[in-house]
Formats: sequence, structure tokens, C-alpha cells
Amino acid sequence: MKILLDTAHIEDIKKYNDIYDIAGVTSNPTILSREKKDFFPLIQEIRSIIPDKELHVQVTGNTCEEMLKEAKAITHAVGKETYIKVPTNEEGIKTIKQLKSSGYHVTATAIYMPQQAMLAATVGADYVAPYFNRMNNINVDSKKAIQEIAWLFEHYHCDTKILAASFKNTQQIMDAFLAGAHTVTASPELYTQMVENPMIDSAIAGFSQDWIHTYGNKKIYELI
Ligand code: E4P
Repeated sequence: MKILLDTAHIEDIKKYNDIYDIAGVTSNPTILSREKKDFFPLIQEIRSIIPDKELHVQVTGNTCEEMLKEAKAITHAVGKETYIKVPTNEEGIKTIKQLKSSGYHVTATAIYMPQQAMLAATVGADYVAPYFNRMNNINVDSKKAIQEIAWLFEHYHCDTKILAASFKNTQQIMDAFLAGAHTVTASPELYTQMVENPMIDSAIAGFSQDWIHTYGNKKIYELI
């Protein structure tokens, strides 16, 4: 299991990279636009925080030719090991095929149906990114879709991994992993929500009270 941060917010990337074992950072044009910064300096700043981790950057072109040029520009700026995110329509499949034959790392994104994942895998995508919440929004059973993709990849010994994305709550992240996603990417707040709630606070407060009752304000290392 691997977790990535689906954000381009520099302070959040620094903070969460410090707390968790983050495998990398993903972004898309919408996420980048929220930061209101120039594109190349922003992705270079992200790369400087995570020099040895995965960075996934999405292309914006509509044609294979444009997407190939964008991939070249992105990797020139932030390294060839960067994952180029390509939307999985027909032009995207053509682009993925060419990127893979030129040695790029590629994430096939905007996956709403297992059949897209299956085709992306046939042209060698490293990751497919099923959109969990967006699938739910159109009445697609996201869990079942990820289960089907996972089954296909395992059954056919396919190296492509599932990088589940588009989450609006923590249960969706759990469901994606339980369905067979190898990796998830989510906004930083969702990781916080997984380990912070009033019940946890209350349990910690109870332990503190009982400790203070017996040992006062001394810490364990002060009792030696
Ligand atoms: C990641 O690959 C996707 O771009 C992202 O998770 C989409 O999330 P959204 O549905 O919250 O926009």
C-alpha cells in the first residue's frame, strides 16, 4: 500500500511529507490552478521537496502531438522519472503508447470504467487512476470497478498498478484499498481525518489524567 498527496499546496506537501510516509505527489490542472503560481516554478518547487519520490503531472493538450511535446517539456523541467498523467480517451491511449515506447513513466488518468484501465494497461501505462468519487457521482459502483481492474491485472500478470484518486471522504479511501487499489492519492485533510476524531482525543486525555494522578507532571524519561 502506498499513499500520495493530491495537492500542489507547498506548505501542505512539506507538512504531510514530514508526518507520513508519502510516496509522492499528484496534481491535475485544477489542483495547480488553485495555487495561482506559474506552472514550471511550481512543479519545480514541488520536485525540490520530494526529489526522490513520485511526482505525477498532467498534460493539457487535446492531441497526441501536443501531449508528447508537453511531456517533453515537463520532464525537461522536473526529471525523466516524473509520471506524465494522460487522460484515457483514444488520443490519450495513442499518447501513452508513444510515451512508453520512449521510456516515460505514465499514469493513465480520468478512469471511469474498467475498460479504460484495461486498454491503458495494454499500451503499458505504469498506473491507472480510477476516479472513485466521480464514479459514485454518476451511479457507477467504484468499489466494483476497482475490484474488476485489480482482478484483470492480477489474472493477466500485468505490471500496471492501480492509483485510485478522487476521494471526498476517508471511507472511500478504505474502500479503494479493500477493493484492490495498490496506491491512493488524496487531499492532505483526508489523511488527518483518518487519525483525528473526538474519540481518539478522549482516549488520549483519559491516559494523561490517569498518568498525572499517579506520577504528576513528570514524563517517563524524568523518572529514571
Ligand atoms: C487525480 O488523478 C485526479 O486528478 C483527482 O484525484 C481528481 O479529484 P477530484 O474528483 O476531487 O477533482
